Amino acid sequence: MSDAPLASTVIAIGLIPVAFFFAHALLSGLRGWRYHRITGLVAVSWDLSMSIGYMVYRAVGGEVGGHALQLSGLVRAYFMVHGLVALIVILFEVAMLVTGLWQWRRGSPIAWHRRLAKPLFFLWWVAFLSGELFYLVAYVI
Ligand code: HEM
Repeated sequence: MSDAPLASTVIAIGLIPVAFFFAHALLSGLRGWRYHRITGLVAVSWDLSMSIGYMVYRAVGGEVGGHALQLSGLVRAYFMVHGLVALIVILFEVAMLVTGLWQWRRGSPIAWHRRLAKPLFFLWWVAFLSGELFYLVAYVI
């Protein structure tokens, strides 16, 4: 265990409310509840700004853990899977945003918005939980 870097803590805590917005977005989309557009927009823009913000932070040299984290082969593989799923989630979210705004504007459904909803929801949970699990194991337990 080592001290958690601030950036990781911000992401680990900051993503928790997105779970609520995603759950509402999926259920409200499927069941025709009110506020779907709001919770969908909040979920996607919140998640995108956090994940893209984190990637930019790392790309410009932001340190996370530095050498405190010993990345063994297995942990590296875990991170690669986590990162790959997170990347797919970003692409799905952009597609959800585009199709959502598009069908909002034209006032009739776009099949891909519905088709992508459940896979995105599932993959979002995989990315979220695998990230939280790593945070807990590396910095909390
Ligand atoms: C990114 C922002 C989003 C926008 C602007 C948006 C917009 C819309 C709009 C305009 C509709 C038509 C029904 C309505 O007006 O309530 C809709 C339906 C739907 N949305 Fe979204 N949405 C977004 C995000 C999401 C997310 C994140 C999910 C699921 C994880 C989702 C799942 C659905 C589903 C399942 C439907 C029903 C589709 C159908 O029956 O054809 N949406 N959305």
